[in-house]
Amino acid sequence: MEEISYGMKDKVVLVTGGSRGIGLEIVRRLIHHEKARVAICGRKQDGLEAARSLLGEQDRLLALPAHIAREDDVERLFDAVEQRFGRLDVLINNVGMNIMTPSLAETETNLWQKIIDTNLTGTFLCSRRAAALMKAQGGGKIVAVSSIAARKAAPAMGIYGIAKAAVEMMTKVLAVELAPFNIQVNALAPSMVRTDFSKPFWSSEPLYREIVRAIPLGRIAEPIDVVHPVLFLASRGSDFITGHTLMVDGGASAL
Ligand SMILES: NC(=O)c1ccc[n+]([C@@H]2O[C@H](COP(=O)([O-])OP(=O)(O)OC[C@H]3O[C@@H](n4cnc5c(N)ncnc54)[C@H](OP(=O)(O)O)[C@@H]3O)[C@@H](O)[C@H]2O)c1
Repeated sequence: MEEISYGMKDKVVLVTGGSRGIGLEIVRRLIHHEKARVAICGRKQDGLEAARSLLGEQDRLLALPAHIAREDDVERLFDAVEQRFGRLDVLINNVGMNIMTPSLAETETNLWQKIIDTNLTGTFLCSRRAAALMKAQGGGKIVAVSSIAARKAAPAMGIYGIAKAAVEMMTKVLAVELAPFNIQVNALAPSMVRTDFSKPFWSSEPLYREIVRAIPLGRIAEPIDVVHPVLFLASRGSDFITGHTLMVDGGASAL
């Protein structure tokens, strides 16, 4: 797929959670292939440093620590992006996390809050600030990474799935509100992707076999399988698509 390009040269893209996993692959592609200018955030400085040395290209990369569910952090992050690049063409709401919650009915409030804060409130805070910037500059794109867990009650992923379902609804609400400002808002919903996040599942051979039985294409996704749909939704190629969640699931939802 090396030859595919999305016309994003010099575009300014903020990828939340760009220090590893799917986010890092999006950033790698944006910087090295598309020649975009990219800002990333993560909570941990060492993760950002590792990504920075892996990516090189310091001129086109801004890497800042920020917890996306903390309003002050989000403000500082967006201020820094504005200061460094002067605009924001694309926000990719990539951050997501899960803490195993075997039973929703028996979950402590603080655990519920933690999962909702990062997956849902963080996406809201970043989208709100991006919308203000994009309105002022005459357009932009917001893309969220949801999950198939938004529509299937997967074991131990209840609150995560609820948060992702809300992110998909937020995508519709923002798409309608921001359409008059030439801002397109979309999401994509991957099935399992080979990253640290899902390692407990794919690293077990019997579990892996069971998972791929439900995927017509017969394998889990690699991060690059998600990168291309993200870049399509971030590019001019998707200008007439808004409020949509694209399934990136190897056909799982067709079964
Ligand atoms: N992997 C899968 O199977 C899969 C499937 C469907 C959907 N997804 C979704 O895809 C997205 C990326 O997942 P992934 O597998 O690449 O995850 P990952 O490998 O765990 O990476 C998560 C990234 O987000 C950052 N992060 C986590 N919490 C944060 C917070 N509160 N504030 C700022 N940064 C934060 C992490 O850095 P720090 O730890 O330094 O903060 C890291 O850079 C998520 O939205 C996830 O829900 C994943």
